[in-house]
Amino acid sequence: MKSKRSMKKVFIRTFGCQMNEYDSERMLALLKGEYIPCREPKEADLILVNTCSVRKKAEEKVYGLVGRLKHLKRTRPEVIIGVCGCVAQQEGEQLLKRLPHVDLVLGPQAVYRLPEALEKIARGKGPVVDTRFHKDFRQPLILPELNGDRPVKAFVTIMQGCDNFCTYCVVPYTRGREISRPPEDILAEVECLVRQGVREITLLGQNVNSYGRKEKGFPSFAELLREVASVPGLWRLRFTTSHPKDLDEDLMRCFAEVPELCEHLHLPVQAGSNRVLKRMHRRYTREEYLSRVKKLREISPEIALTTDIIVGFPGETEEDFEQTLTLLEEVRFDEIFSFKYSNRPLARSTAFEDKVPEEEKARRLARVHALQDRITREINESYLGKVVEVLVEGKSPGNPALWTGRTRTNHVVNFSGPHGLKGKLVRVLIEDCGQHSLRGRVENSQ
Ligand code: 5AD
Ligand code: SF4
Repeated sequence: MKSKRSMKKVFIRTFGCQMNEYDSERMLALLKGEYIPCREPKEADLILVNTCSVRKKAEEKVYGLVGRLKHLKRTRPEVIIGVCGCVAQQEGEQLLKRLPHVDLVLGPQAVYRLPEALEKIARGKGPVVDTRFHKDFRQPLILPELNGDRPVKAFVTIMQGCDNFCTYCVVPYTRGREISRPPEDILAEVECLVRQGVREITLLGQNVNSYGRKEKGFPSFAELLREVASVPGLWRLRFTTSHPKDLDEDLMRCFAEVPELCEHLHLPVQAGSNRVLKRMHRRYTREEYLSRVKKLREISPEIALTTDIIVGFPGETEEDFEQTLTLLEEVRFDEIFSFKYSNRPLARSTAFEDKVPEEEKARRLARVHALQDRITREINESYLGKVVEVLVEGKSPGNPALWTGRTRTNHVVNFSGPHGLKGKLVRVLIEDCGQHSLRGRVENSQ
């Protein structure tokens, strides 16, 4: 390894989902020994932008940021600028036409080939475009090494890609077919993180419920959860994202039977109308979704649910939209992530003709927000006076006099308490709440 002084600097900016955050960490791990991370693009020898193309807005942000790096490249032509992730996959060579100052275009599967790509550029063979998909792509096992201010929680990818082809979604095209990681790699990574002090793991995948189904001899997702939960020293386990059609009872029972598994499930519903769900190719009905929620709550009464909603999908009428509102009322999610429908390259719905006007989508989104804000507030208020278990993640970014962490139900709690609580499980009395967090004081630490 080189001395810190002689090492080059890398600036990395990540957009989009947790899969991208995970991939960015892997890229930094691959660069270890050659590069150290820095905080500003202007200090960097290598600038990586890990991109998201799931919605139009996310993609526009990427073009904005990479576009602004042009002047930097003009003053320091030796700086290497790389665009990675989903926009890179989607655009490939085209991206170089629009952004000619870019040296490197790496799709999500190719981020693991970053060192090879950089070597090519060093040999004057740039720009490099690598968006190859491999049918038998195996994510290499890169055991994470945590330094400095060690995190209390971490992500571990268990699968890549998606085979569902919802008609609005670009993911199957940018991340490729579903491929599950071998359970021994997942366990090795979890054990390595826990040895370094991580106490909470979130298992990641576009559709974790179908883990292992395509592979011979792999455990089911529920079996994998039980195995991961039994790693000594791991206190909390979560996973995301689940597809409602693949949520079976075996998995639901884990919420009651696996003590480490936290009582929170992100279960994207997208819409409340069967007609819209069908055109989205979601492969469940409103009634099926609701009956799964009912079952889940019978098994785990405390479970908190969150979801994703798209408003203004092509052909969504006012009546269809009202069905989304009634579904939100019926389920009472703790939190939702709601989006205006946007056309995505390659997604089938882009060719649907009955698009909803932009102003109408905005109006529907505002109605969804107003309704959900009330429900979230009511749920938050129901915590007042209760004592909850919080895993302490560190100082609250908004107020360093307070600690911050989450309940098992994934609510953020900011609270006062004694020194040295980071990484501990504490009991917090909830005294106040806002729209996005709870506030309280520590009762006693364990
Ligand atoms: N338009 C709007 N929202 C979308 N999402 C995915 N594709 C689109 C699109 N074309 C949303 C879905 C998904 C979340 C990650 O992003 O709600 O669950
Ligand atoms: Fe996209 Fe549907 Fe796959 Fe989720 S399940 S990543 S929405 S295609």
